[in-house]
Amino acid sequence: MTHVARISQRVSLEPFLKWAGGKRWFAERCVHLVPERFERFVEPFLGSGAMFFALQPARAILSDLNADLIGCYRTMRDAPEAIALRLADYQALHNKEHYYRVRGAKPHDPVERAVWFLYLNRTCWNGLYRVNRKNEFNVPIGTKSTVVLASDDFLATATALKPAEIAHCDFEETLDRASRDDFVFVDPPYTVKHNLNGFLKYNDKIFSWADQVRLRDAVARAAKRGAKVLITNANHVSIRELYEGLGRREVVSRASILAASSVHRVPTEELVIRTWLRSA
Ligand SMILES: C[S@@+](CC[C@H](N)C(=O)[O-])C[C@H]1O[C@@H](n2cnc3c(N)ncnc32)[C@H](O)[C@@H]1O
Repeated sequence: MTHVARISQRVSLEPFLKWAGGKRWFAERCVHLVPERFERFVEPFLGSGAMFFALQPARAILSDLNADLIGCYRTMRDAPEAIALRLADYQALHNKEHYYRVRGAKPHDPVERAVWFLYLNRTCWNGLYRVNRKNEFNVPIGTKSTVVLASDDFLATATALKPAEIAHCDFEETLDRASRDDFVFVDPPYTVKHNLNGFLKYNDKIFSWADQVRLRDAVARAAKRGAKVLITNANHVSIRELYEGLGRREVVSRASILAASSVHRVPTEELVIRTWLRSA
């Protein structure tokens, strides 16, 4: 079985994207919930991949339904230097007019497309990803003007991504591939509101309650095959009932960072469900 060093022993690598629901805080605070040993790391709701970058596993399957996101990851893995060079150009050009010009374009070349995605992610309002009915990105410009970050290390990011299989697909397809002793980190969009955190949409398609039920069933199948599945979701009665009888629960709390004003940054509670015994 692959042995994975504890997070603290790794050179810290920050996610290169800002993402709604990003689990950087969770990866830092909840190391004790990660199994000490596992075969592959599987993340079917990749987003900014905070858990992946914290662990930097030797083998991984990463996937998401957002095609632009997955395209950006693949190009980051294959052409990190080209992305860094072009992003520096975008930094020099950045202003309101440039932002809206870029937003209205959608390049086909993989490097240009990845830089397009990264530039918008870093300069749009709150790093939000939202498209209209025609699948056009429509988030307004935000307050941040730093396009190239001091923490950027695209070569190290590409090295971490090299052993990973990166797929554009629905979560069920990925979860159904998880097998004995794989560690599966499941961080779906939330469907129900918890506390004041009412952010329910990540894509043009809403993650429905039927999707939550489909997810629970896929998690149960993977756990039955011996995969070690860790699920995060809203600490809401409907979610607690949905996962009744499946695994052990813990409640973790964090400060909401999506609230527009600091007055509304109340701690929100999240439910964590673990399908394996800690000693396993
Ligand atoms: C809460 S975010 C994951 C955040 C991630 N853990 C991080 O650290 O940034 C949920 C992700 O699920 C993706 N998603 C939504 N519906 C999906 C589906 N049916 N299958 C796979 N991914 C989906 C969204 O595109 C989004 O990136």
